[in-house]
Amino acid sequence: MKEIMRNVYLKDGNLFTKSRYGSHYGEKVLSGYREWIPWRSKLAAMILKGYRISFSGKEKLLYLGAASGTTVSHLADILDEGIIYAVEYAAKPFVKLLELAKERENIVPLLFDASKPQIYSGIVEKVDFIYQDISQRNQIEILEKNIDFFLKKEGSFLIMVKARSIDSTTSPSEVFKEVTRRIEEKFDLLATDSLEPYHRDHIFIYGKI
Ligand SMILES: C[S@@+](CC[C@H](N)C(=O)[O-])C[C@H]1O[C@@H](n2cnc3c(N)ncnc32)[C@H](O)[C@@H]1O
Repeated sequence: MKEIMRNVYLKDGNLFTKSRYGSHYGEKVLSGYREWIPWRSKLAAMILKGYRISFSGKEKLLYLGAASGTTVSHLADILDEGIIYAVEYAAKPFVKLLELAKERENIVPLLFDASKPQIYSGIVEKVDFIYQDISQRNQIEILEKNIDFFLKKEGSFLIMVKARSIDSTTSPSEVFKEVTRRIEEKFDLLATDSLEPYHRDHIFIYGKI
């Protein structure tokens, strides 16, 4: 296994995170390493495409759109000395997220609407990183609100954008151009790329304030 990022490993073209825990979503576990499946996690897809995020492992991270915790579980392996505030508003996936948080001390599961950060502002502290994967038309506005409330001055963010969720009547490349323009208007763009072949018509945007 070759460590390519803190607690993230590559072996024979497959990605793994180092874990003290068992399988969460049917992924293979090989002597303390959990396979990180790029078709199931956009962050894994981004890393397999060669992009890196220099986590120290101690970061506080706010995750918007945690669903049942597929990507959160791997981030919890990576940020083994940090904390993840995982926001999800749908009750069904949240049940599985709760199960995950029961065995892992570094996940705080929050059943809230990410478009109303004022409601969870009494619980979430200032964070180093915001991760957003919510497939919503107004996801940039939601990101901006959460940045205003929670992101530290030197903080960075990563968002996953699905073209169809923003505008199903315009071509994906036009949608991505417009979303990237809006991000660049207010923030520094660190990297952006498509998530093909793992996630069709999706891009990631990595930036900082
Ligand atoms: C594509 S899924 C996330 C998958 C997850 N990030 C992963 O990689 O494991 C999008 C999730 O965002 C949630 N979501 C959408 N809008 C939201 C909002 N305003 N507040 C909280 N969660 C939201 C949905 O319920 C859904 O579970």
